[in-house]
Amino acid sequence: MTFSRIVGTGSYLPARVVRNDEFSARLDTSDAWIRERTGIAERRIADASQASSDLALEASRHALDAAGVAASEIDLIVLATSTPDYIFPSTACLLQAKLGAAQCPAFDVQAVCSGFVYALATADNFIRGGSVKRALVVGAEVFSRILDWNDRGTCVLFGDGAGAVVLAASDAPGIHASVLRADGRHSGILSVPGNVSGGRIVGSPFLQMAGNQVFKFAVRVLDEVARETVAAAGMQLSDIDWLIPHQANVRILEATARKLGLPLERLVVTVDHHGNTSAASVPLALDEWVRAGKIRAGDRVMLQGVGGGFTWGAVLATI
Ligand code: UT7
Repeated sequence: MTFSRIVGTGSYLPARVVRNDEFSARLDTSDAWIRERTGIAERRIADASQASSDLALEASRHALDAAGVAASEIDLIVLATSTPDYIFPSTACLLQAKLGAAQCPAFDVQAVCSGFVYALATADNFIRGGSVKRALVVGAEVFSRILDWNDRGTCVLFGDGAGAVVLAASDAPGIHASVLRADGRHSGILSVPGNVSGGRIVGSPFLQMAGNQVFKFAVRVLDEVARETVAAAGMQLSDIDWLIPHQANVRILEATARKLGLPLERLVVTVDHHGNTSAASVPLALDEWVRAGKIRAGDRVMLQGVGGGFTWGAVLATI
């Protein structure tokens, strides 16, 4: 039987650091409010010259290096983003050209902050199906481009970045189980409800969120989907070495860990210095913990996404 396994991780953060004081200098907010309500101290913001594919390229190169795999050896690219370079072609195709990985299939996944988990589960299915041996799975975002920088309720929460993994066919898991869920009835509580038509923006190009409803939804489904995923893998919650939920708010992360009965030392937190980077948050956090030597070969990791759609999901993997 063929499984898939993460054989390399990489990430990239833009150089510009934006600390909470930058917001309090011009908006009715404070470093104390942002830290207390979200856990965020700083985030990175991409330069105007950088698009999602540029961030994805850097993260992908690091993941390929870590895996010892050449771009030409990749036979699938799945890229999760809600902030693509263009309406089309897909950011995955732009990344493919920049990497020099011509010919392999490449496509974007749009599941907002669950995007990386959706992309990883998709690539896992291609590998288990036998048609792909090595996949590059990426989450890349420039959420700074879809924020109203005068809306204190949203602009303080997000950041830009990218993370990537190389997934390869393996005789042993690797990925033990994945569970993906969506409920479009809740599309209104987190959205960018606009589009381009006839050369004009129709609706709003800015992120809108009913923060409180999103918060409660996230804590409920992150708990549920973790339980479903360990059950699908025939394991117990106590088999999880590291919990990496989508990095939205430290209070959501801690509430999830508590509901699952996992000690906070097993919870991966990077939202304090990345902010919420949407589809990039999970692979960014994974790469940071791997490179810091905290997550080691053989550790069992639960990766979780939740976001607009509403979408949510989890992947349980041995690294
Ligand atoms: O990636 C997708 C998932 N996204 C999330 O998971 C985000 C989920 N939601 C959250 O993280 C939290 O709901 C927020 C951080 C967005 C807000 O925290 P909250 O504890 O739910 O606060 P709230 O929305 O209930 O607002 C409390 C107060 C309000 O003032 P009033 O109406 O009580 O006078 C807000 O206007 O806090 C006010 N407020 C702020 N005050 C200072 C909202 N944003 C700010 C701010 N600075 N930046």
